[in-house]
Amino acid sequence: MRTKVHCLESSKEGKIAVLAYSGGLDTSIAIRWIKEKYSVDVITVSVDVGQKEDLKEGAERALHNGAIDAVVIDAKDEFARDYIVPAIKANALYEGRYPLSTALARPLIAAKIAEVARKYGAVYVAHGCTGKGNDQVRFEFTFAAMDPSLKIIAPIREWNMNREDEMDYAARHSIQLKKSQPSRFSTDENLWGRSIEGGELEDPSVEPPEEIYEWTSHQDLWPDTPAKMKIGFAEGVPVSLNGSRMKLPLLIKEVNAVAGINGIGRIDHVEDRFVGIKSRENYECPAATVILQAHRALESLVLSREVNLFKPLVEAKFSELVYNGMWFTELRNAISAFLDSTQEHVTGEVKITLFKGKATVTGTASEYSKYESRLSTYGRGDTFDQKAAEGFIYIAGLPMRGTAAGELEKADDRKGTLERKIQR
Ligand code: ARG
Repeated sequence: MRTKVHCLESSKEGKIAVLAYSGGLDTSIAIRWIKEKYSVDVITVSVDVGQKEDLKEGAERALHNGAIDAVVIDAKDEFARDYIVPAIKANALYEGRYPLSTALARPLIAAKIAEVARKYGAVYVAHGCTGKGNDQVRFEFTFAAMDPSLKIIAPIREWNMNREDEMDYAARHSIQLKKSQPSRFSTDENLWGRSIEGGELEDPSVEPPEEIYEWTSHQDLWPDTPAKMKIGFAEGVPVSLNGSRMKLPLLIKEVNAVAGINGIGRIDHVEDRFVGIKSRENYECPAATVILQAHRALESLVLSREVNLFKPLVEAKFSELVYNGMWFTELRNAISAFLDSTQEHVTGEVKITLFKGKATVTGTASEYSKYESRLSTYGRGDTFDQKAAEGFIYIAGLPMRGTAAGELEKADDRKGTLERKIQR
């Protein structure tokens, strides 16, 4: 769904740059800067991936600040279906910690920018990423995959302005900015989570102040009684919450709310960026934390031992590819095809208890459960032949017997040689 805020005027020089626009300080200034520096008209595109921003209001400001058109695209359903779902199937956590919320949305946003560029015959695409982060890579890899002929403008990498210079530039050119005070932290958010970095968080030894959190309530307010929820999955996809069927974006929103109240999903991660630097990022990912935990628990119940032991190797590669912006690649597609094939029986319900920052799975059930009470029970109804274990261990243990026998023989040989030497 696309909401057009303004009618496109015909571009003066015929050259257009399509800018990925968040409405923040950087991209607000970028409209004017790109227009002047490159002598082009600028169209902004804002993609709604579930951030709690008023994108319409931002689009109005973009027009005021010189864009010839400001496009707003609602991509929440697409984000959930085509990006979050594959990530759930992959139990995707970068370096075992970060649910990749920012990383997953970038290829979608960049693909939308490329789409608008094609529609308007734009020569340039532009983004407001710095030259030190992962996001520039994610945008530009996606642009390359969509249309290698697109030329890229990355103003922040070029203009060498610090925050004060940017504020001066905005004042000089009467650029309208958001009313809210600029924060000392840099944040990014979508349905799958919220990222916070900068300010005093740049020192990894500093404890994150409570004020950085917006999706999880203040520690003092975490309820004293546990909350419980039940998530239903169909073929690996969350489809119901506490028994009611729900579309995924709404389900995620609801889980975010309840888990957030209980302080779940705070992640403090010193992570390894693709560009080679370490950075300290804090995250709030209440729903992602709960859903991934529930999904993995259900997999334990329904997947074979072999798949359960092998799949994490593939999951780690999937997470690395997503983090590094390699969404539209042959390998990511092939991995997703494998992951899809593992999800056929990941259908069932998972009970979770949420309490003071911690989510705990307290029960799993599935019509495809591979759990066999007849075999696992220590009570009545046991059909497992315990005597058979002896032969199993004997055969599986042959290599150990072989090694031990070899060591004994070698020891005997050494002893023999020594004795012969002494006799001589
Ligand atoms: N470190 C995360 C990533 O590379 C988040 C980046 C955006 N963070 C931010 N606070 N603006 O995926």
